[in-house]
Amino acid sequence: MDDMSTQTIKVKTWDDLVGEEYMQEGHGPSWRAMIDQMSEADISGAKVLDFGCNRGGFLRMLYDMKPFKNAVGVDIATDSVAVANAQRGTRPIHYGHNDELSAHKGSFDYAFSHEVVYLLPDMDAHAREIYDALKPGGVYYLVIGEYAENPLWPRWYNVVHEFSPVPPQNYSLNDIASSFDKAGFAIAVNRLNCHGFFSYQAGGDRYIKNPLELVKFMTEYMMMFRLQKKA
Ligand SMILES: C[S@@+](CC[C@H](N)C(=O)[O-])C[C@H]1O[C@@H](n2cnc3c(N)ncnc32)[C@H](O)[C@@H]1O
Repeated sequence: MDDMSTQTIKVKTWDDLVGEEYMQEGHGPSWRAMIDQMSEADISGAKVLDFGCNRGGFLRMLYDMKPFKNAVGVDIATDSVAVANAQRGTRPIHYGHNDELSAHKGSFDYAFSHEVVYLLPDMDAHAREIYDALKPGGVYYLVIGEYAENPLWPRWYNVVHEFSPVPPQNYSLNDIASSFDKAGFAIAVNRLNCHGFFSYQAGGDRYIKNPLELVKFMTEYMMMFRLQKKA
């Protein structure tokens, strides 16, 4: 199996490949929910990682809602990373390719990923790389809606398989928990509590076929793990 951590998607960004439905603006409600749901109110002294940062929107929102000391966002799609750097403004954020992560070993207080781990071919390896990146006691907030127990996932799996440059995996929530347990994390989990209203495209799109699916996905199926590196 290919080692995705060393791959680079150069041709197109994820947004170009998936179209409007997945543009970063569509992720606003779940990013906001992640930030609201974190246990920590003040992260002003913290160094933060966003794994699979795409065009950088999550870290921009996090900084604007809960300022941090500095942050790194990494992605295999170098075009997305370039857009992210162009849009960071004066925020203390650097976006780069995955390869840069090895220069930051043991330095992050918090790590995040949103809708990324279903694209990773080796969950055990991912758990180890986040373990290595965090300080002892550091926390990884992992948010995922694409997993085996989600009743919408079998249909979505085929859709993702058609367009994605990175083939999707079929992890269960327990697969994720087991990998992080083995790597040395204390595991906690809850639904991601998305609030407010969710934009709906009349007639649906290739993922969401009716409003009920959208509401169920946003309020029932998105999961947020809190994974704490054991000291
Ligand atoms: C569905 S998008 C989510 C992007 C972003 N986290 C967000 O919330 O908008 C998945 C992202 O994961 C990235 N990705 C896929 N495989 C990756 C890997 N092995 N390492 C880092 N990023 C990866 C893709 O390039 C893409 O930007």
